[in-house]
Amino acid sequence: MKERIAAEIARRGPIPFERFMEMALYDPDGGYFAAGPLRSHERGDFLTSPEVSTEFGIALARFVEREYHRLGGPPGFMVMEAGAGSGSLLASLLDALPFTPRAAAVEASPAAREAVGARLPQVEVYPRSGPPGRFRGVVIANEMVDNLPVAVAVRGAEGWSERWVGADGAGLVLVEAPVRPEVSVWLDAYAGEVPVGGVVECQLEAAAWMDRTAGLLEAGSILVIDYGGTAEGLLPRRREGTLRTYRSHLPGPHPLDAPGASDLTSDVNFTALMEAAMERGMECEMVRQDEFLAALGLADRLKRLRRKELELARTGGPMERLRVRSKVKEIETLIDPRGLGGFRILTARR
Ligand SMILES: C[S@@+](CC[C@H](N)C(=O)[O-])C[C@H]1O[C@@H](n2cnc3c(N)ncnc32)[C@H](O)[C@@H]1O
Repeated sequence: MKERIAAEIARRGPIPFERFMEMALYDPDGGYFAAGPLRSHERGDFLTSPEVSTEFGIALARFVEREYHRLGGPPGFMVMEAGAGSGSLLASLLDALPFTPRAAAVEASPAAREAVGARLPQVEVYPRSGPPGRFRGVVIANEMVDNLPVAVAVRGAEGWSERWVGADGAGLVLVEAPVRPEVSVWLDAYAGEVPVGGVVECQLEAAAWMDRTAGLLEAGSILVIDYGGTAEGLLPRRREGTLRTYRSHLPGPHPLDAPGASDLTSDVNFTALMEAAMERGMECEMVRQDEFLAALGLADRLKRLRRKELELARTGGPMERLRVRSKVKEIETLIDPRGLGGFRILTARR
């Protein structure tokens, strides 16, 4: 992948960072998601909420059920997951619903599309272009928006410049480039008061995704679940920026060192994402994952399971106690405010 990127740079000169990221993640001939095996599972590079526990999908099923009733139980009501990975979330969510909606998975990765198709034959599976036509229902994107390509900008004493990707011998290097007008407009709106030298990922692709997705939805909700924060909340992270890689559950190499072989991600600027949804006439609300799940009954479920675990310690068999203990652990992981529980959940509703 690195050689192919270097060849493109040799042909056209340095490329914008989002072009580099698009190739590194989505190039059909070596992109991390497009060409590799299934990435989101225990033996992959990261472990997401639905891979940690079925309790995540079961809680989200309660959200979907409320939305279904709010919309008056419309025929054709759809649950669509963008970036569905292995299908774990859809599997637990659909299983917990008391009705059978139309269900769709939109996936950039052929390996993931195959996995979802094999596991959930009732689910419609689409590549990145998504389903044709508009629908009523709920769209869920868990840890997907953080992967959408970003431009990278640096605040200088005289204003913004961009970091593009150039080649230096066999290696790839970041090179300074003048800021493009559309990047500048985004930065002025959503970067906040970044100090000189501060680095910001400009998330135009995320805004475009929200715009397209809001356009698909006649009525219902979009749930974006991810790491990140408001423009203001992200300011302390601006010294270095938030772009990073993951490999085998640990921080990976420098983003330019192993394109195609590591997950490349940045914190989601939820202020910009909300603005894109509001421009489409949607109402937005953002809370932390632990609060969101508590409101859907997961905190009560945890209390009941802890009580049961205590009871079983006195009276029950060791296997049952172990089973309950492991459920308790899973839920604790989902709501840990220093981990998954600290993720943000944006609800955009129409
Ligand atoms: C970090 S994984 C999360 C998978 C799953 N949502 C989960 O929580 O386990 C991100 C997934 O989003 C997919 N993806 C990335 N960009 C996408 C896009 N623009 N459209 C659809 N899927 C995308 C990737 O192929 C990958 O399976």
